[in-house]
Amino acid sequence: MKIIAAIKDMRSVVRDLRSQGKTIGLVPTMGCLHEGHLSLIRESVKKADSTVVSIFINPTQFGPAEDFKEYPREMRQDIGILEKEGVDYLFAPEAEEMYPEGYKTYVEVSDFQDRLCGRSRPGHFRGVCTVVLKLFNIVDPDISFFGQKDAQQAIVLEKMVQDLDLEVKIEVLPIIREEDGLALSSRNTYLSPEERKAALVLSKSLNAAQGMIEKGERDSESLIRRMKEILNGEPLAKIDYIEIVDIDNLNPLTKIENKTLIALAVFIKKVRLIDNVIIHIKE
Ligand code: PAJ
Repeated sequence: MKIIAAIKDMRSVVRDLRSQGKTIGLVPTMGCLHEGHLSLIRESVKKADSTVVSIFINPTQFGPAEDFKEYPREMRQDIGILEKEGVDYLFAPEAEEMYPEGYKTYVEVSDFQDRLCGRSRPGHFRGVCTVVLKLFNIVDPDISFFGQKDAQQAIVLEKMVQDLDLEVKIEVLPIIREEDGLALSSRNTYLSPEERKAALVLSKSLNAAQGMIEKGERDSESLIRRMKEILNGEPLAKIDYIEIVDIDNLNPLTKIENKTLIALAVFIKKVRLIDNVIIHIKE
């Protein structure tokens, strides 16, 4: 695997690949790689001739009071993992390479960016869109892989691709979970053993909602009430939001229908975790 830090070097690799007629798959990450990332990477290795994984802890998507400084950095371990997976290129620029002094340009997907996570993380999706568009411009991928774990992120990025006439195809892959249901996340490393146990309420509450829907419940309010009960039953948990929305435009739904997203963010003590489920109704 070739490790690349400079934008101009990444571009020259991309030019070579293109001249050989090779397709390029891109998996953007912030590192501290786990099985969730690996599911995206394996799909890219399978589908594209060459796979580029980026590791860049993007400062513009962290709020001033958020965990940019503490965010886990495991570069040496990550490199070993990527080599084993057959990744061709690791693009790992420094912050100054992506945002040189005097940097001024940002991308916003208005409205979509202000909902769900956007409400408690103002500016977050602006940072995500900006860095992902920069990565698309640098790597010029045919296809880029994202996880359903960050459902709103995938929806916002798909909208950006559509609105800005980008040629990249976005593929969204299912949430990878621990055996007990906890969605894998680099931020799980912040949890103490006690908090790790408490964090199961996220998937438990989503499972309960899904079970009610399978039995015929369609009323969003009733579902949210039940989910709140479960989450509030865990003393370490504090709900940030629970939302039931249309997956195409993130508009709230009062009644469950096909392609409904149930998404939540919950603080387990100080650690903010997210999880979600997409409901497909067979009728
Ligand atoms: P990061 O949190 O490192 O996640 C990188 C990719 O892995 C994202 O597409 C995310 O949805 C996916 N992912 C994380 N946990 C997952 C899980 N349990 N199952 C499936 N996929 C999972 O998301 C980001 O980085 C950043 O915002 C980024 C897109 C790289 C822009 O900076």
